[in-house]
Amino acid sequence: MPNRNPERMRVLVTAGPTRERIDPVRFLTNDSSGRMGFAIAEAAARAGHDVVLVAGPVSLETPKGVRRVDVESAREMLAACKKEWRATNALYMAAAVADWRPANQLAGKWRAKDGGAQTARIELVRNPDVLATLTGGKRDPDRIVVAFALETGDGERRARAKLAKKGADWIVLNGPGALNAETTRLVVLGANGLSITIPERTKKAAARDLVALLRHAPAVEQP
Ligand code: CTP
Repeated sequence: MPNRNPERMRVLVTAGPTRERIDPVRFLTNDSSGRMGFAIAEAAARAGHDVVLVAGPVSLETPKGVRRVDVESAREMLAACKKEWRATNALYMAAAVADWRPANQLAGKWRAKDGGAQTARIELVRNPDVLATLTGGKRDPDRIVVAFALETGDGERRARAKLAKKGADWIVLNGPGALNAETTRLVVLGANGLSITIPERTKKAAARDLVALLRHAPAVEQP
């Protein structure tokens, strides 16, 4: 892995939803617009870093100076991130990865009228956890890993648990109001116990604050 120069890091950003196919014309997805991740990629490139943006299906323009890799499903996102991982100094895992995918993808169109049934089921299987697969669930002193969590209810407790389980240095917590919105209010929790509140502001402004985290990696405790 290249040395980590805080002025010029290799930054990997994931953004947007994933799309999990049911048949050639239908899929499961979520409301993520990709705006937060794209804004982070733009802010990181402007700050002088080398940025790779792995993007789920969104209709946003690629920020200037950013290398973009388009993917559709969670498994494609994992494969694309794995390719970049060795050279990565910092990861912003902003994508809203679908936890589940249909167990079977139909080759032809699913025709509801064929059987005449009034109910139907789609069997789902677990998708890989992209972040936990990359980190192996452990923090690495040579990388800065920023996770995201969209939570309802007791968000802080849940986000802290995810931070530990996924081997991240920071986790950025926002509420469901942030989905598809222009502005956001964030709480950033650090593996070192820090809690930073970023008050309501545009996603572009919040992204600049999140890129500033690259200068303040919480130290990894020695065992
Ligand atoms: N994440 C991931 N791969 C998944 C699911 C989530 O890499 N299959 C990442 C997200 O990009 C985010 C972090 O893990 O950075 C937390 O995502 P979240 O959806 O809040 O957590 P989950 O592990 O899916 O937990 P839950 O569904 O129970 O809230």
